[in-house]
Amino acid sequence: MEIVLSGIRPTGNLHLGNYFGAMKSFLRLQEEFTCFFFIADWHSLTTHPRPGDIVGSVRGIMAEYLACGLDPGKAAIYVQSDVREVLELYLYLNMNAYLGELERTTTFKEKARQQPDNVNAGLLTYPTLMAADILLHRAHKVPVGKDQEQNMEMARHYARRFNAMYGCDLFPEPESFALSGEAVKIPGLDGSGKMGKSEGNAIYLVDDAATIRKKVMRAVTDSGPTAPGGVKPEAIQNLFTLLRAVSAPDVYAHFDGLYDRCAIRYGDLKKQLAEDIIAFCAPIRERALAYAADVAYMERVAAEGAGKARESAARTLKEARRQIGFRP
Ligand code: TRP
Repeated sequence: MEIVLSGIRPTGNLHLGNYFGAMKSFLRLQEEFTCFFFIADWHSLTTHPRPGDIVGSVRGIMAEYLACGLDPGKAAIYVQSDVREVLELYLYLNMNAYLGELERTTTFKEKARQQPDNVNAGLLTYPTLMAADILLHRAHKVPVGKDQEQNMEMARHYARRFNAMYGCDLFPEPESFALSGEAVKIPGLDGSGKMGKSEGNAIYLVDDAATIRKKVMRAVTDSGPTAPGGVKPEAIQNLFTLLRAVSAPDVYAHFDGLYDRCAIRYGDLKKQLAEDIIAFCAPIRERALAYAADVAYMERVAAEGAGKARESAARTLKEARRQIGFRP
């Protein structure tokens, strides 16, 4: 059975873009493959050395994942820092990772520019920690965004390098598959570009009804179509893309028809869109809040996920130690 793995940096709440992107793929993947999904809390120390209530925020993120339908009975869902085995593999990989190649990584150069006073060794070796995450389970497929392509290329390098160095075939080369291929790209409401936390235009799954209404009513529009059957400008197309994602097909068709006939009123469209987003998010929000409040349950899920991950990790490490020459 092929092994799928993905890591999520604990950067904040999930928004609609995350849901229709990564989350939808994860939900499909957990039905078909042996999946490992983990929260990369150690990675966050590279930029946030004093993470504050990291246990609480990681629990909140995990609650949102469960609320979306990630199933701890199907996938191993765990917290990176609960699986210390990854550190041993990180060390072995670091012994065969070279300063030059690490310094050339675009994400390293970017971060070094953003935080010139904290160009730490963890930042430099971010790609080896990520490779250790992946190789720890000898994963075959890693669903990630395009921005992770260079890190994935390095993970493949390190897999090949380890195999060549010790004359074995312990690690398969992990294949990345771009999430953007299958996922619906959810735009922001500010007229152009995609929805994102850093773009400041996101609707979060845990936003309440009033917040969602306010965000949708503020969405950028224009003065309306001028000729029947015209092509929608980007800002308007974005509203329709969201409508397509969360509303019933006949609702979409209704507003699309109005647009075509130059009879559309954007206020009506937005009101409908807001209500449909609220209806979409409400059950997820309720489940997420309930999970997050049930600390004992969340701790059990984390422990169960860590157990599965550590078992798989132990098998890999035993072999890695043997290949290098240590006692297995
Ligand atoms: N670097 C990834 C990101 O920023 C997070 C990550 C850490 C990851 N380890 C991983 C992704 C292993 C996939 C596999 O999004």
